[in-house]
This record gives sequence, structure tokens and C-alpha cells, in this order.
Amino acid sequence: MKKKIATLVAALCVFGAAAFFFISQPQPLDGAVLPAHTADLKNGEILYNAGGCISCHKPAKGVKQQKLPSGGAPLHTPIGTFYPPNITPDKATGIGSWTQLQFVNAMKRGLSPDGKHYFPAFPYTSYTHMTVGDLLDLHAYLLSLKAVETSSNKQTEIFGAPILRRGVGAWKRLGLNAVTFKPDAKQSARWNRGAYLVSGPGHCNECHTPRNFAMMSDFSKRLAGGPHPEGKGKVPSLVGLIARKKFKDIDDLNSALRYGEILGYEDMSSGGMGDVQTNMSKLPESDTKAIAEYILSLN
Ligand code: HEC
Ligand code: HEC
Repeated sequence: MKKKIATLVAALCVFGAAAFFFISQPQPLDGAVLPAHTADLKNGEILYNAGGCISCHKPAKGVKQQKLPSGGAPLHTPIGTFYPPNITPDKATGIGSWTQLQFVNAMKRGLSPDGKHYFPAFPYTSYTHMTVGDLLDLHAYLLSLKAVETSSNKQTEIFGAPILRRGVGAWKRLGLNAVTFKPDAKQSARWNRGAYLVSGPGHCNECHTPRNFAMMSDFSKRLAGGPHPEGKGKVPSLVGLIARKKFKDIDDLNSALRYGEILGYEDMSSGGMGDVQTNMSKLPESDTKAIAEYILSLN
């Protein structure tokens, strides 16, 4: 009897390992997703700012050229410290030798060129909603920056990272809704632009939408606020901002997004929001107004 149970347990373990191996397999997109495309660098720059790439990929303090995304500044999370890598076009230490498809797979599928799963501390869970055309413009913009060679890409300080990476593959099956944003025909073009910027490049959901027990965004409470995903403090709700007398109208929220603390909007400055606001200030006004229109429609 004991032997039978042992055999059964062994069989279940083998089955479990095989199932885990299967469901955690990388699922990259193939070249068929790439349209014929002429890069628009201006659009790429807008997406770079909307996406806040520099906020995480900035260099460590003291490095010259603070404005280039050469990586290395620590990003603290509840599971450990990441050092987001160099995404300047340096061939050896940045992404200069990546193909367009490799870049699209990183942004849409959270996969590295050699098929490893990235941790969702890199918010591809939002970037996945961007259009491929926009990602190609963003890629072209990154390639147009000055290449910075970094002496070392510091390693992630996460216990068991190599094994956990494989686990991320299983997590993605449930937590990564890899669909490109679809406009809502019942809404205005400006509302749809705002909805796209918020859910895709702007990755506002990553902080403003609470997470469930499996650390996946709980979209039944879209943008309703919750504990800060980086560990400390809370993130406010973006629902019912007018009813709660937080902002008067689209122009008021637009000013807050563009000028933040300078104009006395104090709830836009801490817990990473200061960086978001700085990035928002670089967007065309039509885009911050679009974001404001969409956010203020949330009730
Ligand atoms: C909230 C922080 C955060 C933001 C914002 C962010 N990233 Fe990252 N990014 C990361 C982290 C962390 C990693 C490493 C993930 C890992 O090791 O699994 C990463 C990895 C990457 C990689 C893989 C690089 C490599 O060498 O493997 C690319 C490409 C990338 N990010 C591009 C971008 C772009 C483009 C933007 C802006 C649209 C952006 N990231 C915004 C945190 C961020
Ligand atoms: C890194 C996490 C993070 C991201 C990403 C983020 N926010 Fe925030 N946001 C915060 C925090 C934290 C606060 C509260 C800041 C404070 O009180 O100083 C905040 C505050 C705000 C407020 C003020 C709310 C109020 O009650 O006055 C608005 C509006 C806002 N965010 C909009 C956005 C939009 C739009 C995006 C996406 C483009 C975004 N946020 C992305 C963390 C984030």
C-alpha cells in the first residue's frame, strides 16, 4: 500500500512538474505581427515620456548623463531590489543589437531575447496594450538616443530569481491580458486617446488599481486606489474625483498633471507620482487633456 502511495505521489510530482514546465513556457510573438512601418520619432518620444521609462531606467546617483536611460538606480519592491537595465542603444550593455521583434516581445509579452520571463516590476502588463506601430516608434526613439556603455548591469537582488522567473511564466497565464487596446466607439476620440494613454503607456493601473491575493490587478476596482505596490503607503483612488471635490473639471486636472506641486497640487508629489507628473509635463497638452477627460469620466 505504502509503495502504491509513493508511486502515486511520484507520478503526481512528475505530472505537476511537466504541467508547470508546460504552462510556464514562453509564448513569444512571431515576425508576422510586425507591420510595414516608417518610424515616427516624435511619436516615439511622446510614448517614452508617457511610459515614464526614465523614472525606472535612470542611472544610479552620481553617474553623468542623468537624462539617459542607462539603468542602474535601485527599484525597491516587496520581493527585493531590481536594477532596471540599460536601454540606451549601446550594443554590448544596452539594447542596440536587439531586433524590432525582440523589443516588441519584451514590451508585449515580458520576454527577453533569450526567452526568459521578466518580472512584472517592469510594467509590461500595461505596455502590452500598446499598438505594435507605437512600440516600433518607441524602439526607434530609444535607438536615436546617445548610446551609454555601462560597466556592469547590476544583478537583481531577489531570492531564487532564476526559479521564480519560470514561475512568472505560469503567473502570466492568468495575470497578463495581452490584448492591444480597443477604442470604445461610444466615446469621443479624446476620451479614447486618454483611455489608451492611461491603460497602456502611462501604466496608471500599476499603482492606482488594487491587486488581489495573486498580485494581479483587480479590474473590478479599476483605478480605485489601494496599498502602494512598492510597499509603503497608499495610492489614492481616481474614481469620482469631481464628486469628491478633488478637481473641478478637465482644465483643473490637466493643470495638476502638467504643473503638479508648482501650482499647489500637493497630492501629485509623493510615492512615485512626482516622477509621473514630471513625465506628464513633457506631453503635448492635447494628451494631458485627453488623460484628464478619461480619468474624470470614471465614476
Ligand atoms: C516601474 C519601473 C519600470 C518602468 C516605468 C519601465 N521599466 Fe523597463 N524594466 C524594469 C525592470 C525592473 C526591468 C528588469 C526586469 C527583470 O529583470 O525581470 C526592466 C526591463 C526592461 C527591458 C529589458 C532590458 C534587458 O536588457 O533585458 C526593456 C527593453 C525595458 N525595460 C524597456 C522599457 C521601456 C521602453 C520603458 C518605458 C516605456 C520601461 N522599460 C519602463 C522596470 C521598469
Ligand atoms: C508609481 C506609482 C504611480 C503611478 C504609476 C501613477 N500614480 Fe498617480 N499617484 C500615486 C500616488 C502615490 C499618489 C498620491 C501622491 C501624493 O499624495 O502626494 C498619486 C496621486 C495621483 C492623483 C491625485 C489624486 C488626488 O486625490 O488628488 C492623480 C490625479 C493621479 N495620481 C493620476 C495618475 C495618472 C493619470 C497616472 C498615469 C499616467 C498615474 N497617476 C500613475 C502613484 C502613482
